[in-house]
Amino acid sequence: MNYIGSKRKLVSWIENEIKSFVGEDLSEKVFCDIFAGTGTIGRRFKTQVKKVIANDLEHYSYILNKNYIQNNDALDDKLLRIEELNALDVEENGFIYRHYALGSGSKRQYFSDINAKKIDTIREQIEQWYKTKEIGTQMYTFLLASLLESADKVANTASVYGSFLKKLKASAKEIMCLEAADFSTHTKEHTVFKQDANALIHTIRGDILYIDPPYNQRQYGLYYHILNTISQYDDFEPQGKTGLRTYTRSNYCKTKKVYESFETLIANADFEYIFVSYNSEGHMSKEEIKNIMQKYGTYSVQTKEHRRFDAGTTFEYLHVIKKEQ
Ligand SMILES: C[S@@+](CC[C@H](N)C(=O)[O-])C[C@H]1O[C@@H](n2cnc3c(N)ncnc32)[C@H](O)[C@@H]1O
Repeated sequence: MNYIGSKRKLVSWIENEIKSFVGEDLSEKVFCDIFAGTGTIGRRFKTQVKKVIANDLEHYSYILNKNYIQNNDALDDKLLRIEELNALDVEENGFIYRHYALGSGSKRQYFSDINAKKIDTIREQIEQWYKTKEIGTQMYTFLLASLLESADKVANTASVYGSFLKKLKASAKEIMCLEAADFSTHTKEHTVFKQDANALIHTIRGDILYIDPPYNQRQYGLYYHILNTISQYDDFEPQGKTGLRTYTRSNYCKTKKVYESFETLIANADFEYIFVSYNSEGHMSKEEIKNIMQKYGTYSVQTKEHRRFDAGTTFEYLHVIKKEQ
């Protein structure tokens, strides 16, 4: 998934840096990815550590991480379920079609008519199976994550859901095919939360805390509202041109709140090592982060250059402290 602030391209660098501080063998370590997003970082560490704790404010992220991080059973019949869902006859009048496709008269075109109907049909069938106990929680979150990933591929947006395109783009004209959101199996138990990081931090402890907060004013609940709607599939009155739902605003996206929230999080963290990803275009400068973090432990920073074709060079920082307990 094309996700704002995704660490997909940086995951190997981050893994190597973390290991150079903590050591190669992480098998006895508890690792927390407290702003987990699409789960990129937790997924890399899942099979290397004793436990991953993944957390994010957003519901779609909770579902993705429940699947990629917490799911551990092989789910032998999972591909049969996917096939069955792909073969369903589409229904005419579900929530996504009514509010986010043109054919229903909604004036919104986040999906082609056929894809909106397919999303509804598949979403309703998954819920039905779960309610009637035909499938358990692991299969449920696997199928929902598969639907989120597959729907995202045919969304008619420039990349996020803050707006839709007037005309259907080529990928949005493709008929959605449900594809498996595969996860790695592991013998250890991992945990996923959907909480504000600053609230959760009081209730967890571990060895390595990875912090990858939003770095500007873009609220994820707004930019990915359709993914929350597909995963929650609740009834509400979509608002305005983009059919927005109410969403939680994060203090990390507010210039006036970010410093205090960040410092409180670091201060309350019961973890030996804290790693913070932030880039050179964020609310907080490199110096400001350093000034906060070095109050709580031995500080250093690693830097990686990012050349972007549209915006020149930016820098990705990985700030580190070994906390003084
Ligand atoms: C930069 S993204 C993380 C990207 C992730 N590392 C990845 O590779 O997909 C920041 C994430 O923080 C989440 N978030 C924002 N405010 C939060 C808060 N107060 N507590 C927990 N999660 C929050 C957002 O929903 C978003 O998924």
